[in-house]
Amino acid sequence: MVTGAGRGIGRAMAEALAGHGASVAVNDIVAERAEETAALINDAGGRAAAFAADVGQHAAVLEMAAAVEKELGPADLLVNNAGIPGSFSAFKFVDSQPSDWEPFLRVNLYGVLHCCHAFAPAMKERGWGRVVTISSEAWRMGTDYGISMYAAGKAGAIGFMRQLASELGHDGVTANCISLGELDNLPLPDDYFARYPVARAGSADDVVALLLYLVSDEAAWMTGQVLPLNGGLS
Ligand SMILES: NC(=O)c1ccc[n+]([C@@H]2O[C@H](COP(=O)([O-])OP(=O)(O)OC[C@H]3O[C@@H](n4cnc5c(N)ncnc54)[C@H](O)[C@@H]3O)[C@@H](O)[C@H]2O)c1
Repeated sequence: MVTGAGRGIGRAMAEALAGHGASVAVNDIVAERAEETAALINDAGGRAAAFAADVGQHAAVLEMAAAVEKELGPADLLVNNAGIPGSFSAFKFVDSQPSDWEPFLRVNLYGVLHCCHAFAPAMKERGWGRVVTISSEAWRMGTDYGISMYAAGKAGAIGFMRQLASELGHDGVTANCISLGELDNLPLPDDYFARYPVARAGSADDVVALLLYLVSDEAAWMTGQVLPLNGGLS
């Protein structure tokens, strides 16, 4: 199961997992995007099905998990990728209202909780599972971009994932986070990346390489970690 896989790195991760033989449940809040990703995978000879749902809605996620299990079987891998990006200058915290905060926490934090609640019990029961949450270096690097609630949601999900790793470690289920610097699908000028030791934006391929390791059998001893993938930024 890859959430938010209708475009961006979610799509790239879904395609890569399918390329390695996984049957992929493609989630997105925008149904057409999920269907397009599933079609790309199926047309390339892989196996995928689309499941439109808002990960910020617990009931919808439970319903989706039941549909996934019926169509593809129980999920062994959960990639929590769906996120509301930290729109630059969304708002400054001191000028904001609680109603401004809600969407960022609902998707970036509660979305992770909902999906783990829906998919992790079956992993625990079968004694094998991999949960990977896509986070952002915004969780620990201060900026003045106006992304305080994005950072709060991402940081909350990290704290949760580390506890989940402890709860499920005895059951063969690992839980890790990939904490990303800025990728090449953001509209940023090239000179922006001069601050990065590896002076370029990250790519979907960079993310896929780490994801494939984290979901492998070989990564059984890697859990509860927050892996920075950021061209050396931190
Ligand atoms: N692109 C970057 O530079 C960058 C940097 C750091 C972290 N990240 C994180 O990586 C993840 C993916 O980023 P991206 O750049 O590919 O984003 P994107 O906006 O291109 O794609 C995200 C997808 O998630 C879907 N989505 C949004 N809300 C959803 C919801 N409530 N339920 C289900 N699907 C939903 C969107 O429809 C979209 O198709 C996000 O969690 C983001 O915070 C990205």
